[in-house]
Amino acid sequence: MTATLTNCPTPAKSRLTPTRIANETFVVHDHHGEGHAPVMVPLNTMVIRSAEPVVVDTGMAENRDQYLADVFALVEPEDIRWVFISHDDVDHTGNLNALMEAAPNAVVVINWFMQERMGASLAVSPLRQRWVGDGELIDVGDRKLLTVRPPIFDSPTTRGLFDPTTGVYWASDSFATPMLHVARDVAELDHDLWTEGMSTFNQYVSPWITLTDDRKFQATVDRVEALGACAMAGCHTPMIARNHIDHAIATTRRSPAATVAPQPDQGVLDEIQLALLPR
Ligand SMILES: [Fe+2]
Ligand SMILES: [Fe+2]
Repeated sequence: MTATLTNCPTPAKSRLTPTRIANETFVVHDHHGEGHAPVMVPLNTMVIRSAEPVVVDTGMAENRDQYLADVFALVEPEDIRWVFISHDDVDHTGNLNALMEAAPNAVVVINWFMQERMGASLAVSPLRQRWVGDGELIDVGDRKLLTVRPPIFDSPTTRGLFDPTTGVYWASDSFATPMLHVARDVAELDHDLWTEGMSTFNQYVSPWITLTDDRKFQATVDRVEALGACAMAGCHTPMIARNHIDHAIATTRRSPAATVAPQPDQGVLDEIQLALLPR
């Protein structure tokens, strides 16, 4: 998923320091929409301080200073060994080149199609790339991380990331939800709004779920459920602790049949433009 309406003036944004979600595993927070949209959208990334430290996704370019400060407060730039990119959307790759420049020992973990789709915007030598597809392992010294494509995705390059040591699954664009206020944990959200938000985002991100053979879609959810994750994190969701995972999974299973609100249309843009006109 990519952020929208970035040309609107951006009011001051609440600041969340990184959240420890498991042993040596941290969500680095950002969000979009605060103060100028009816809802906010999380824009998170993650750091795993494994023997060979891993940065998971790289956030939005407009948040670069805060992003790099948060990441480097968790791990020294020269210690970063791997930068895992879940897919090639700008909200996941916005600081990739800057991070790779600042982290001389890092290798970016992408795949062939991702570097094709990023083209010249990827300023990382093939000598510093590794191509890892769905279902493959990444050896980070003291553990092997498993790539698992999440059920909801908006780029064909997408792979999630499961750490068998901590049980944390990085879901990329899956299990996404808007927020009415900044939150670290989905437990802080209104339960009904969270449920509705997940179904809405699931259909927005992957509209094909309403078209596909439901048995095949459910099999993709089965695959993530079978990981038995202890916690889930993702770009567009507060962390989902173990006691909320079953609900996130069940809501995703029901999302193809859910009735969701239509996306903002030209009428909404008309209102935005009116509000932006000088008075
Ligand atoms: Fe995306
Ligand atoms: Fe996204």
